[in-house]
Amino acid sequence: MKVLVVGSGGREHALTWKLAQSPHLDALYCAPGNPGTRTLARNVAIAAEDVGALRRFAREEQIDLTVVGPEAPLALGITDAFKAEGLRVFGPTQAAAQLESSKIFAKQFMLEAGIPTADAVTFDDLAAAESHIRHHGGPVVVKADGLAAGKGVTVCQNKDEALQAVRQAMQERIFGDAGRRVVLEEFLDGEEASFHVLVDGQNVVPLATSQDHKRAYDGDQGPNTGGMGAYAPAPVVSEALQQRVLSDIVMPTVGGMAARGMPYRGVLYVGLMIVEDRPYVIEFNARFGDPETQALLMLLDDDLLPLLDGAARGQLGDARVQFLPAAAVCVVMAAEGYPGAYSRGMPITGIEAAADQPNAWVFHAGTDERDGHLVTNGGRVLGVTARAAGIAEAIAEAYRAVECIQWPGRQFRRDIGRRALQHVASAK
Ligand code: AMP
Ligand code: GLY
Repeated sequence: MKVLVVGSGGREHALTWKLAQSPHLDALYCAPGNPGTRTLARNVAIAAEDVGALRRFAREEQIDLTVVGPEAPLALGITDAFKAEGLRVFGPTQAAAQLESSKIFAKQFMLEAGIPTADAVTFDDLAAAESHIRHHGGPVVVKADGLAAGKGVTVCQNKDEALQAVRQAMQERIFGDAGRRVVLEEFLDGEEASFHVLVDGQNVVPLATSQDHKRAYDGDQGPNTGGMGAYAPAPVVSEALQQRVLSDIVMPTVGGMAARGMPYRGVLYVGLMIVEDRPYVIEFNARFGDPETQALLMLLDDDLLPLLDGAARGQLGDARVQFLPAAAVCVVMAAEGYPGAYSRGMPITGIEAAADQPNAWVFHAGTDERDGHLVTNGGRVLGVTARAAGIAEAIAEAYRAVECIQWPGRQFRRDIGRRALQHVASAK
């Protein structure tokens, strides 16, 4: 098969790394890719959002399967555009991707389908939103309706913070049109975890559970980021809880979308808040998580290509996947200043030494090559990922690899996976 991966982050490097191992693969391309994907695939200089150029490329190269990494092309309708020309895509249609691209769509859908989620009200009028906040107060979560690169959510402790958040979204439009409408949501106090499932419109193949670290600094302090690290599996999601997520959340979502004429095909990322052992949805994503995917794929003991192809064809049937009885940890190394303004072009050293560590892989995210040297070229620069028999060893190995890598101003969290350790300790 000829396969095209769309995107340029750590997630896409990990997808490329896993797909490159498939015996069914004849040729692998990545658009636009990064210096990491270049070692495994042919990078093609087309932006992930340039749906027209991607479609032309896929048609000319006779690509059998296009695997879409990020949410933006899905929200632009890449799947619909490819399908109209008979090209196969792993990823939901524009309508089905609304589970991620519109928080209002997702919330209404969940309420109608009886899926456990935080109570919420929707506003398209600033004065009405302000009045609601004044009457209700308390901690509240303000969410811009549209895609805002993971930054459209503000957890507000009090009225003033909430008033400021709705004004910034609806009046100042700091998220552009994404903030034209907002959802005000009940604050759920619990532990977060995510659950990825492959879906073919009807059938579901659960992948491993995982946990992201959204805040920039240790101890979950500082601003939200795209994710500073992840581990899998997440011990907070017990086997019983997983079954419950499948029966109470995943199956009604898949059934409900099909019943509404928008069958969901692709990977469904269920962002959960576990409150007193009960799972609630805090968000859906219509694509693989980043950096969760780096950890997840490290544990997958099966060929990824037939799974993605089966989901895209609507033919997963009763496929099941094997996961190694191990743990994986991904530590994101970021540029100084991230998630705020950061500089680019810092020379990176020590990647080879890091990758030489046993069971460690260095996935590229924001890197570039200049005059034969690797330099930083983004906020999240690398995802240093390790696998080991247990979570404690995986953490130690990931950080051993991280310490090999240097550039001026590099930053990373030193507590990735600590939560998992606490769960493992308390279970003993
Ligand atoms: P989202 O982009 O929807 O995942 O939200 C970003 C982050 O905000 C989540 O990872 C949570 O940490 C937090 N969050 C979102 N919704 C809620 C909620 N209802 N209660 C508490 N925290 C939330
Ligand atoms: N790491 C969070 C996400 O991919 O949305």
